[in-house]
Amino acid sequence: MRRYSRITGTGSYLPPRRVTNADLATELAGRGVETSDEWIVARTGIQARHFAAPEVTSSDLGAEAARRALEAAGRAASDIDLIIVATSTPDMVFPSAACILQRKLGVAGCAAFDVQAVCSGFVYALTVADAMIQSGAANKALVIGAEVFSRLLDFTDRTTCVLFGDGAGAVVLEASDTPGILASDLHADGQHVGILCVPGTVSGGQVLGDPLLKMDGQAVFKLAVGVLEDAARATLAKAGKTDADIDWLIPHQANIRIMQSTAKKLKLPLEKLVVTVDQHGNTSAASIPLALDASVRSGKIQRGDTLMLEGVGGGFTWGAVLLDF
Ligand code: UT7
Repeated sequence: MRRYSRITGTGSYLPPRRVTNADLATELAGRGVETSDEWIVARTGIQARHFAAPEVTSSDLGAEAARRALEAAGRAASDIDLIIVATSTPDMVFPSAACILQRKLGVAGCAAFDVQAVCSGFVYALTVADAMIQSGAANKALVIGAEVFSRLLDFTDRTTCVLFGDGAGAVVLEASDTPGILASDLHADGQHVGILCVPGTVSGGQVLGDPLLKMDGQAVFKLAVGVLEDAARATLAKAGKTDADIDWLIPHQANIRIMQSTAKKLKLPLEKLVVTVDQHGNTSAASIPLALDASVRSGKIQRGDTLMLEGVGGGFTWGAVLLDF
């Protein structure tokens, strides 16, 4: 009998400090940087984001999301034999946020590692966990997206600092006789490294290069719109499904205009598009599991629904996962 993987629980966590566009505009005005709620809403759909307190790390946010996912799945941390954390904002250079998070969950022994694919991190991590479960290398995985992107923001650059937020989302993924994950499709093109990056690095006891986020927004926008449709179509084809089989589209939450354009290209009514970018901003690898958990807990997404998850971001990376929830 074929072995599949299936999501048995979801969880998420947002740090308590909610910053509206108006709050941010006031703060930025104090630095001589001009922006407005009107501009941010019209160009991105973002109304608010959450920022973590200075001492809070990605593994803190991820551990809380993981506890909630475990509770929803009816599992204990000790049942888990694989932890994958998708993050571009790990607590330290090393060890991985996954190892630190494992300790915070009070367990030891299971495999734990990070996946670095920026905003595509969660679909990459979910695909890796699915492959490990299908092969028998793991039985019960925690797959987590956790980020503190506020740490990387240049608050003198209005073209980027209004876009991002902090948060974490998690799923428990378990071996199952029935799918579960139906198909996935991952890609990268390193030729576009420069359009979205944090170029700084640590060397000889110093930070070398600029440790703040740089983005050519229009270049990212154009690439994202094209590749998101391609990845969705490739994933549907692998699963032998069509647009009409998708109950919910959960794209990376970066910009409502990119998300709506993807839904239109897939001929999906906008009611089938899951939107949390308005309240979360762009939380990079955390955005998809955050949106998934919010929709599961609100009752929008029901067991048996077919979900298309899609990520796109720095690298350039992109990919999609189609699953029966
Ligand atoms: O997570 C990875 C994926 N990332 C993304 O998907 C991001 C993709 N890109 C985008 O979402 C959009 O390109 C942005 C939201 C970043 C920018 O939107 P845009 O419609 O491409 O705006 P723009 O860069 O063409 O800028 C238009 C104007 C400029 O002024 P001028 O030159 O026309 O006078 C900017 O200086 O808007 C100005 N502007 C702002 N004004 C007020 C840029 N940022 C701001 C701001 N507030 N925060």
